[in-house]
Amino acid sequence: MADESKKWVLLVTAQTPTNIAVIKYWGKRDESLILPINDSISVTLDPAHLCTTTTVSVSPSFDQDRMWLNGKEISLSGGRFQRCLKEIRARASDVEDEKKGIKITKKDWENLHLHISSYNNFPTAAGLASSAAGFACLVFSLAKLMNVKEDLGQLSAIARQGSGSACRSLYGGFVKWIMGKNDDGSDSIAVQLADEKHWDELVIVIAVVSSRQKETSSTSGMRETVETSMLIKHRAKEVVPKRIVEMEEAIKKRDFPSFARLACADSNQFHAVCMDTSPPIFYMNDTSHRIIGCVEKWNRAEESPQVAYTFDAGPNAVMIARNRKVAALLLQRLLFHFPPNADTDLNSYVIGDKSILQDVG
Ligand code: ADP
Ligand code: DP6
Ligand code: CO
Repeated sequence: MADESKKWVLLVTAQTPTNIAVIKYWGKRDESLILPINDSISVTLDPAHLCTTTTVSVSPSFDQDRMWLNGKEISLSGGRFQRCLKEIRARASDVEDEKKGIKITKKDWENLHLHISSYNNFPTAAGLASSAAGFACLVFSLAKLMNVKEDLGQLSAIARQGSGSACRSLYGGFVKWIMGKNDDGSDSIAVQLADEKHWDELVIVIAVVSSRQKETSSTSGMRETVETSMLIKHRAKEVVPKRIVEMEEAIKKRDFPSFARLACADSNQFHAVCMDTSPPIFYMNDTSHRIIGCVEKWNRAEESPQVAYTFDAGPNAVMIARNRKVAALLLQRLLFHFPPNADTDLNSYVIGDKSILQDVG
């Protein structure tokens, strides 16, 4: 006869948007705790277009932890998943669902197993920060399921151990990842600089130049950079600290010319550092370079910049227009010069504004 006590399943679903850095994180000082060599600043994107949806479930009938990513089972044996699961389990509290007659004590969580199903509504491992949305969503949904009572800052330090950029996806608006000084990573957390309403005339246009998986993952790319590039030392010590201060000021004052100058320069320096790596890493392609040319030409023809661009570890362009009118013009120009599926390898455009973490659980 079936064991009635094993029949229940408790589920939580959460949705987390991706984020795009305008001052980039590239390089770690501690590989296992994921501690960066510089602060970084990002904008959290609109979850309607680029987000991860994760459902976490627990049941006494599960005999091991399992995870599916975009419908395919993946291994949870990697250090990053294990660390996130361990940190969340260690903070679990009692959970009671009276309607279902379920009661899980803090102690029970040590022996209960999880099934996790995650789906990205945008290309995975293609330079659109799937690791950021993915691990932020994993940590957020697990924390909810296990009734973890930590604040978002503490959760960001756990998400950071899944993927560095993930710590910034727990907040909407503009977010800073403070690199921290402590060896244990306890002060390496994300903080919100301004919420999603602060600069709401900005519009983000993403050109999905390629949805193929990149050849060099961010993790191995930045490891090789730290090992072989001289330029990265100069960037982390001399360039980024000044840019962080200036970028915070530009965001506070909604100073678009400074924002655009800093974001474009930082993206370009990040890709210069990739080329300064041995062997060099090329994340952008010919279409990416042509998009930069097009935006630069337009900005120089105007009195002040209209559009900022930034590229993560992949060829896809993230453009930030100063307002809706400029965004419409930008899209018109892009569609003219870079029609999807023509002689470029560009396949789509995504438009959205900044937004907030959504909990649909
Ligand atoms: P990206 O530029 O997309 O962030 P990365 O190389 O940084 O690319 O990371 C890709 C890796 O992130 C994937 O191979 C996978 O291990 C992890 N990842 C992506 N999406 C998710 C998700 N929804 N949940 C958990 N992990 C994810
Ligand atoms: C170029 O966070 O993906 O997107 O910490 O090794 O998982 P790991 O790397 P990841 O690196 C992101 C690099 C970047 C810049 C950024 O998001 O700041
Ligand atoms: Co990533």
